[in-house]
Amino acid sequence: MSLDLTLDLTPTKLDLLLDNLVEHGWFEWPNAVSDSLCEALLAEVETYDEEGALQRAGVGRGELHQLNRDVRRDQIKWLNSRTAAQVQYLAQMAELQMQLNRALFLGLFEYESHFALYKKGDFYKKHLDSFRGNANRMVTTVLYLNPNWQADWGGELVIYNEDSSQTLATVLPEMGKLVVFMSEQIPHEVLPTLHPRVSVAGWFRLNNSIAGNIDPAR
Ligand code: OGA
Ligand code: MN
Repeated sequence: MSLDLTLDLTPTKLDLLLDNLVEHGWFEWPNAVSDSLCEALLAEVETYDEEGALQRAGVGRGELHQLNRDVRRDQIKWLNSRTAAQVQYLAQMAELQMQLNRALFLGLFEYESHFALYKKGDFYKKHLDSFRGNANRMVTTVLYLNPNWQADWGGELVIYNEDSSQTLATVLPEMGKLVVFMSEQIPHEVLPTLHPRVSVAGWFRLNNSIAGNIDPAR
């Protein structure tokens, strides 16, 4: 894997991303991250799965955290720069954070992210990643790691408008694709998948002291 610390963020691409985030609250960016980096991240997740190192995902934070298999069924592992691939990916997200702050004055302060493996039959029902007034997670990213994804395998990310009255997009989880959306604004769901489906979900957060919140435990 060659060292690849920057995103393919041409001025045109950046403008498109910013315009769509402001106008519509979301953006779908195919081939944002190189195949070689995606393959390295995917191999990591496969190893974690074989080692039993993934954990059942829960819903809510801190004391409200609960395992709710009716809501989501994926298995996760948080990134922490433990491998070269993670370092590269996190460097690319740091660059994106800087660009978002520069253009939109969002005050994004940190980034947290986890791998997620959805096995056959797994899903994540419609939800918001952050609730208004609890301003913490501001911008969500989802990177997909699945080579040769087929349209009839299920597992699409469905993006809804703010009041959930309309489907805005149905996104195939194809390798290298990065989806970016406003965490408080965009309801979304993962439809049941027929094949193993791997993603990296991440959140740019505000500084908790600025947001007036005590940093909750994961
Ligand atoms: C999430 C999420 C979407 C996906 O983890 O909050 O919505 O496509 N993931 O993996
Ligand atoms: Mn989500």
